[in-house]
Amino acid sequence: MLKKTVRDVEVKGRRVLVRVDFNVPLKDGKVAEDNRLKAALPTVRNLCDRGARVILVSHLGRPKGTPEDQLRLLPVAVRLGELLGRPVMYAGDSVGPVAEQAVEKLGPGDVLLLENIRFHPGETKNDPELARQLASLCDIYVNDAFGTVHRAHASTVGVATLRPSVAGFLVERELEVLTRLLKNPDHPFVVLIGGAKISDKIGVLENLIGLVDALLIGGGMANTFLAAKGYKMGRSLVEADKTEVAKNLLSSAGVRGCRLVLPVDLVVAESREPGATHRVAAADAVPADWMALDVGPETVKLFAGLLKDARTVFWNGPLGLFEQPPFDAGTTAVARALPVNGATTIVGGGDTARAVKRAGMADKITHVSTGGGASLMLLEGKVLPGVSVLQDK
Ligand code: 3PG
Repeated sequence: MLKKTVRDVEVKGRRVLVRVDFNVPLKDGKVAEDNRLKAALPTVRNLCDRGARVILVSHLGRPKGTPEDQLRLLPVAVRLGELLGRPVMYAGDSVGPVAEQAVEKLGPGDVLLLENIRFHPGETKNDPELARQLASLCDIYVNDAFGTVHRAHASTVGVATLRPSVAGFLVERELEVLTRLLKNPDHPFVVLIGGAKISDKIGVLENLIGLVDALLIGGGMANTFLAAKGYKMGRSLVEADKTEVAKNLLSSAGVRGCRLVLPVDLVVAESREPGATHRVAAADAVPADWMALDVGPETVKLFAGLLKDARTVFWNGPLGLFEQPPFDAGTTAVARALPVNGATTIVGGGDTARAVKRAGMADKITHVSTGGGASLMLLEGKVLPGVSVLQDK
């Protein structure tokens, strides 16, 4: 169902609370990666230019409902100000007197970033009192935090039920692009899923099997599928309690005409330590004391061959221990094999977006989603709570 957006509301002089996803990596007290900040700029600029009093609220990391200095949003306010080219005020709390006083000082076109909302335990519990406090700061609510729309929290759902609530431009664009994958993708439609665990992705794998022509599996989760086929995986990460699920997915793919493709070779190492001895082994010949940490060169070739002719590609999750070279090699090589011949290519999730960037492919991709978990939940065919609560068009 189509949702109202910032275009559909009169904002001049109004206090507009915008839920953004500024959950970005920080390093040495600075923002290390600002894609999510850049992605929110169109909405923030539009509201400023139309004379709104703009109040931004976000989470950062997973604090346990109490302030943690390293998860404060001040560095984000600084970087956002640089990107916007105008000052961004910052309040040391996200509700209560500190936030209220900061909001009172806002003039039309001004921007304020509130402190990390997860410093309040009520956020992740969608506590009605916290939602009420957030609502008291604003006249209108906008959700532009696509990366967080799969969470039913006070700042994504609770507050939205208390004020006129609409989508920002980022949420609008993400929904448009990703929903098209479910409705009328061009075929062959190839999906690449990696990451450590199958347990987080069972629902989406089940749904995708009915939609796509080929499902290529890599990363730690591939080990569980290989174990389900009876292969010995040495000391590799295997979810032993999920091998039955993996077996069912393999047979369901067979029945439904989806090619479920597993690695044929792996980079195995003696340990996860940097500099550990490593080599390539066939997927059915992982030595007993070794562990699989990346896909091997034959698997890269196999995946590249299938990607070459794809008309639609969706990719979530690295294919190896991406954060630790040389186990990033498979992921980077596959990123380089993404089709650039007019096919629709969509990647989701921080590591995958980083892989595509590292491979020099970022500007050749149709869409880099700012939401890993959110895009998977959408592809699972589920309702996104932070979207469904917004006003229908
Ligand atoms: C993300 O980075 O995936 C989003 O910001 C959501 O964060 P969360 O998984 O901690 O809710």
